[in-house]
Amino acid sequence: MKAIVAVDLNWAIGCKGNLLERIPEDMRFFKQMTLGKVVVMGRKTFESLPGKEPLKDRVNIILSKSGDFENDKIIVCPSLDELFCELKKYNSDDIFIIGGEAVYTLLLPYCSEAYVTKIDNEYPADKYFPNLDEMGEWEQVSISEAKEYNNIRYSFLKYVNKSPKVL
Ligand SMILES: NC(=O)c1ccc[n+]([C@@H]2O[C@H](COP(=O)([O-])OP(=O)(O)OC[C@H]3O[C@@H](n4cnc5c(N)ncnc54)[C@H](OP(=O)(O)O)[C@@H]3O)[C@@H](O)[C@H]2O)c1
Repeated sequence: MKAIVAVDLNWAIGCKGNLLERIPEDMRFFKQMTLGKVVVMGRKTFESLPGKEPLKDRVNIILSKSGDFENDKIIVCPSLDELFCELKKYNSDDIFIIGGEAVYTLLLPYCSEAYVTKIDNEYPADKYFPNLDEMGEWEQVSISEAKEYNNIRYSFLKYVNKSPKVL
């Protein structure tokens, strides 16, 4: 499985339940990478989606113990065991972990790749992604040219995990 995330210079990912920034090219990249695939997210990230609606044309899996969801377009897993059982139905290359902090932290060891949009800014934040540059098993293997939108500089990085845990 793979993680996909947008981080700032401090590896921050969110503040008060929201994203730090919305960069159109990053949104398109996220869509292009995940369309037709399986997306796994925490209940709080699900609730932050526009209209609290699942992402279209993707299998939406939500991790939640408390969730009382009346939505037949999502799959809710109340525990890691049940999530892993569900994920066995899919090709692991098609599974994307899309946040937030709690779910990234839990599932990053099982990811073989991470697609990181690095935003060249520092934002007030209360949620973070693990700093892959400080984790020996993770190696940065590519970086796009520097890009800019509304004076915000950013680039697309790819990391690989040299020893992912097996589901
Ligand atoms: N920058 C990015 O790319 C990006 C991407 C996604 C999200 N975000 C940001 O991240 C923030 C949200 O992150 P978060 O850590 O607060 O929330 P989260 O990871 O989205 O969701 C946390 C919830 O997931 C459920 N959960 C977690 N571990 C579980 C387990 N072992 N078993 C069952 N359920 C489990 C729980 O739901 P219940 O309480 O219902 O049990 C928990 O409250 C927001 O600010 C969002 O905008 C950023």
